[in-house]
Amino acid sequence: MFKTILYPTDFSDTAGKSLDYLKQLRNAGAQKIILLNVIHQRVLDTLETIHKAAYFQDARYHEDRDEVELRFEKDRRNKMAPIAAELTAAGFEVKIRVEKGYPVKEILKVEKEEAVSAIVLGSHGRNNILGARIGSVSEKVIRRAVSAVLLVKR
Ligand SMILES: Nc1ncnc2c1ncn2[C@@H]1O[C@H](COP(=O)(O)OP(=O)(O)O)[C@@H](O)[C@H]1O
Ligand SMILES: [Mg+2]
Repeated sequence: MFKTILYPTDFSDTAGKSLDYLKQLRNAGAQKIILLNVIHQRVLDTLETIHKAAYFQDARYHEDRDEVELRFEKDRRNKMAPIAAELTAAGFEVKIRVEKGYPVKEILKVEKEEAVSAIVLGSHGRNNILGARIGSVSEKVIRRAVSAVLLVKR
């Protein structure tokens, strides 16, 4: 029933808490985990702005824009490595994906591409606003996802 599970993480406490639940799904027949992090479009836009500003200040400065983005992606993969190792040790097959853009859109895209049977995510993320009943990403994913969603409370 839960053969392939999508686990989107923003490396927040609540997403981290989801890992414990995820591991327990091994006993429910889950075999494969798609570990996903989305580099937010906002972050990419900020990179672009900083990159341009640095260039205008000193035209000799021309670090390749793609290089900067690659560094970012590598950093995200490094952060995912210990999570993947933990899941592998728990007996799962793990696939790591880093996508760029808007989290909800990318999560739903990967849901389709990987034919997942369930999504496990945190009720809140890095913003974790005290008064917020639910995060904006989790709210939209619950509404639009095709598969079952396990929402882990903060
Ligand atoms: N950039 C992202 N990449 C992958 N997963 C994400 C991302 N942002 C949020 N998520 C997932 O959605 C959950 C809820 O986050 P979110 O709705 O953004 O809450 P908040 O508004 O508190 O930041 C997180 O615990 C995580 O599982
Ligand atoms: Mg967030």
